[in-house]
Amino acid sequence: MKILAFETSCDDTAIAVVEDGVKVLANVRQTQTEHHEYGGVVPEIAARLHAENWRAVLEQCLSDAKLTIEDIDAIAVTQGPGLQTSLLTGTTASSFLSLLKNKPLIPVHHILGHMASVALDRNIEDFEFPSLTFTASGGHSDFYICENFTDSRKVGQTIDDAAGEAFDKCAKMLGLGYPGGPIVSELAEKGDSTAFAFPVIMLEPDSLNFSFSGLKAAIYRTVEACEDTTDETFIANVCASFQETVVKTCVKKLERAFEKHPEVRSFHFVGGVSANKQLREALKNTCESWDKKFFTTNQFIYSTDNAAMIASVAYFLYEKNPEIAKIQFVDANPRLVI
Ligand code: KG4
Ligand code: ZN
Repeated sequence: MKILAFETSCDDTAIAVVEDGVKVLANVRQTQTEHHEYGGVVPEIAARLHAENWRAVLEQCLSDAKLTIEDIDAIAVTQGPGLQTSLLTGTTASSFLSLLKNKPLIPVHHILGHMASVALDRNIEDFEFPSLTFTASGGHSDFYICENFTDSRKVGQTIDDAAGEAFDKCAKMLGLGYPGGPIVSELAEKGDSTAFAFPVIMLEPDSLNFSFSGLKAAIYRTVEACEDTTDETFIANVCASFQETVVKTCVKKLERAFEKHPEVRSFHFVGGVSANKQLREALKNTCESWDKKFFTTNQFIYSTDNAAMIASVAYFLYEKNPEIAKIQFVDANPRLVI
């Protein structure tokens, strides 16, 4: 089953075709660099660029897949959560295609998409459930216990800033641009991770929730106290110490989650932050010592927002309940819950 998916929840106009949930036939993404100078996503600019770009992205996607719209079995779209005005391009374009071309349309929750991103370019038989899935992105740092790729139960979440948001805010305080994750992790490689002792916030003894606002405040104070915040060594040291603190926090939380949920057989690390090499390595090592199978995305482009993951989970949702696919008009829902 070939599914064409649209993902426009934030600042990436992304369209992909995936066969049977795992085989990526085309995966096109146009990232909007126009936001970088503002240090964050400007909703009006994102909405305009999605509306301008989606047709070219669709043409590129079908051409890469060597398919026409007639070859597509179903369409999928991110319905939410996300920016209302960004989501609208995806939901409107996919809905019109559904009605015009008589193709079933499957609405998808963005985070469920991230959860399925580990399945891309993999054999479905390799997975062992229940999994503990860590979704770490710009808006989420959540732990889920998943029975498969569509049934999950949240067991932990951020109570303030998300992990990706912490990277973005760290970069902003150091005047480094947006998005912060890739910039901070690159600079961290040149810095001394023991230069600053930032706080590892664990919350209550059994809590699987995250809090990164204390770390953000510590960085703010460090930057305020520095006489020359343009000094390259200072910047690299803050980045390295910050990243080390995020790594320590996530490792400790993962160990706590394994203690609380011994039934889990594997760990899945997904979302934009899972593109972070140091975190991947540290969490993989933790899984090895706990004898849990470790999975993260097969390619970095599957970690950050993409449409292939939306096509993937749409397939699993359809397998579970074919009724979900209807010829229909789907409304954007910025506060959609799983
Ligand atoms: O999943 P995603 O693309 O979008 C959301 O759903 O939010 O995640 C974006 C987040 C941003 O906060 C970005 O800074 C972070 O992922 N990110 C990273 C890395 N690459 C992207 N964080 C840490 N290390 C990276 N290499
Ligand atoms: Zn995302």
